[in-house]
Amino acid sequence: MAPSILVSAPLPDEVVTRAVREFGAIVAQERSLSAAEIIDLAHAHQLRGLLVTSRVKLDRTTILSLPETVRVLATYSVGYDHIEVAAAAERGIIVTNTPDVLTDATADITMMLILCACRRAAEYLAVMRAGWGVRHEPNELLGVQVTGKTLGILGFGRIGQAVARRAQGFGMKLLYHNPEPVAAAQALGARYVPTFHAMLRETDILTLHAPGGPATDGILDTAALAALRPGAVIVNAARGQLVDEDALIDALKRGHVRAAGLDVFRGEPNLDPRFQVLPNVFLTPHMGSATIETRNAMGHRALDNIAAVLGGDTPLDPIVAARIGQS
Ligand code: DGY
Repeated sequence: MAPSILVSAPLPDEVVTRAVREFGAIVAQERSLSAAEIIDLAHAHQLRGLLVTSRVKLDRTTILSLPETVRVLATYSVGYDHIEVAAAAERGIIVTNTPDVLTDATADITMMLILCACRRAAEYLAVMRAGWGVRHEPNELLGVQVTGKTLGILGFGRIGQAVARRAQGFGMKLLYHNPEPVAAAQALGARYVPTFHAMLRETDILTLHAPGGPATDGILDTAALAALRPGAVIVNAARGQLVDEDALIDALKRGHVRAAGLDVFRGEPNLDPRFQVLPNVFLTPHMGSATIETRNAMGHRALDNIAAVLGGDTPLDPIVAARIGQS
């Protein structure tokens, strides 16, 4: 079978097997391909579909350099801020993402970040890796309780709501900010706060679930951090671009922000070295969707989208517009 699609990064075996069986896919087995490599392969094989990841920026120039044969760009992510969707639309290329299937995994890691930041897990781990040896006094290395705290959720889409469901189990009070109120919030006991800063003034633990992009770039800036209750905890498993990292690092050093749990960063994969030496951060390398089950499901969802477009049907997950709360 002549290849009709490219899988531009090493994906789980069962996804690769299906991509090869159904589309004769060319698969990047060893490493993620660059934009230039994707363009070259698309031309060389006159490909019709490209399965890409958020590691590669598909800007206007890249998209306009693709051959006319390309009908679909399926990203293996829920976020699509790495793709210039307007340029794709201009070329008649359909862009799709993989929502739903990664909601639980991302909400799970968010709870992990909340717990690990509040309970000083990074410091506990360092003590144990060093062999422990001396008992801590009863007033040493104390964290803050998660149970009963007020959780502020920015972006009340699928993932924000899934975090709210988990937080109910911790008896947390739930607030959310979103462009508009969400009907499902009532059943979750989550109260809508019409402005982000008003929500911050009532928040003990803030978790970010808005998409990246110009509308949300640096939304957690110096002024937003100042609005937070002193001693608040910040968690981000969405996009690094939501946070002004200089302002956050300063607030963490001063103790205005007690601790942070971060899975995403502005300069990924290059971490700002100041994070490495802060004791009050718990850091993970952008692993929100990284479970076996979820990564398989994301691959199948991306292939389902490609199959629909190449078969002349409407895909499950066409990208139409970026709005806060959709992730
Ligand atoms: C997503 O699905 O958007 C993840 O953050 C991977 O980029």
